[in-house]
Amino acid sequence: MTIPTLTLSNDLTMPALGFGVFQTPPAETVAAVRCALQVGYRHIDTAAAYGNEREVGQAIRESGLGRDEIFVETKVWISDYGYESTLHAFDTSAAKLRVDTIDLLILHQALPSRFDLTIEAYRALETLLADGKVRAIGVSNFMPDHLADLLAATTVVPAVNQVEVHPYFRQPGVLAADAEHGIVSQAWSPIGGITFYRDSGHTSTLQDPTITAIAAAHGKTPAQVMLGWHLQQGRSAIPKSVTPARIAENFDVADVQLTADELAAIDALDTGHRGGPEPEAMTLEAFGRPIPEA
Ligand SMILES: NC(=O)c1ccc[n+]([C@@H]2O[C@H](COP(=O)([O-])OP(=O)(O)OC[C@H]3O[C@@H](n4cnc5c(N)ncnc54)[C@H](OP(=O)(O)O)[C@@H]3O)[C@@H](O)[C@H]2O)c1
Repeated sequence: MTIPTLTLSNDLTMPALGFGVFQTPPAETVAAVRCALQVGYRHIDTAAAYGNEREVGQAIRESGLGRDEIFVETKVWISDYGYESTLHAFDTSAAKLRVDTIDLLILHQALPSRFDLTIEAYRALETLLADGKVRAIGVSNFMPDHLADLLAATTVVPAVNQVEVHPYFRQPGVLAADAEHGIVSQAWSPIGGITFYRDSGHTSTLQDPTITAIAAAHGKTPAQVMLGWHLQQGRSAIPKSVTPARIAENFDVADVQLTADELAAIDALDTGHRGGPEPEAMTLEAFGRPIPEA
C-alpha cells in the first residue's frame, strides 16, 4: 500500500495521512512542519484556535514546495461563528497562513445551543467555496444529529468530518453516518494521544497488548499499526508530533497491511469513553475565546 489519497465529495484529492499541530507551541511549529514536509507529508492540519497558523504558513513557504503540492486544512473557532464573522475568520486564517486559497476549511465544533450560528457559519463556508477561496468545506466533532440538522438547512454536504477516533474510542455511529452521506471521516488523536497526554491514569494505546502484539508480528511500531488501521478502513488520519523520529515513524506506514482479524481485534478495543469534550456540551460561554486578528 502506498500512502493513499482520498477523493472528497467534490472530486478534490486529499492525502489521507496529514500532519497535526494541536498543542505544538508556535516556537516549535516551523521546525515540526519543516520536518514533516521533508519526510513526505503533503497535508497539514491546523486551526485558528491552535495559535500557530502563521508558523505553519512560514514552514510551507520555506519548504521550496509549490503551494499546490501541499494540502492545507484549518478550522474556524466557535467564537467566529455567524455569516460575516466566519467570512472574516477565513480572511484572518488566510492572512496568517499567507495563502490565497485554503484547501479545506472546517467548522471546529457544532454549537448545539446556538445551532443558528453554526448554520450561518457553514453558509459562509458555502460562499467561500462558491467564490473559489476554499477548495473544500467540512466540519469537526459533528455527531449524527448535528450532521442531520446541518444537511437539512444547507446545500453543500461537508467533504470531511474530523472526529476523535482511535482504538479506545471508535465512534462507529459517527463513522456510519459520515459514510451514509459520502463524508470522509478524519481521525483526530489517531494514535490515541488524548488517552495519554490528558489522562495520565489511562492505559496508553501505545502499550496496549493487542496493538503491541500486532506491531511485533509486522515489525512495525504501535503508532504505525494504528495509522495503518485508519488508512486501511478508508479514514484520513492526522498524527501530531514535535519529535523528528516520530514524525518520520508516523509517515512510514505505506507497507502496513493488517489482516481482517487484526483490524477486527483493534476495533474490539473500543471502550466507548470519549477523551475530548462532549460535543453536545460545547457552548460559547464555556469554550468561547477571541481569535487574534492577523
Ligand atoms: N478537531 C478537533 O477537535 C481536534 C482535537 C484534537 C486534535 N485534533 C487534530 O488531530 C491531531 C492529532 O491529535 P492529537 O495531537 O490529539 O493526538 P495524536 O496525534 O494521537 O498523539 C499525539 C501525541 O503522541 C505523541 N506521539 C506522536 N507520535 C508518536 C509515536 N510514533 N510514538 C509515541 N508517541 C508519539 C506526541 O508526542 P510528541 O509531540 O512529544 O512527539 C503527542 O503527545 C492534532 O494535532 C490536531 O491537528 C483535532
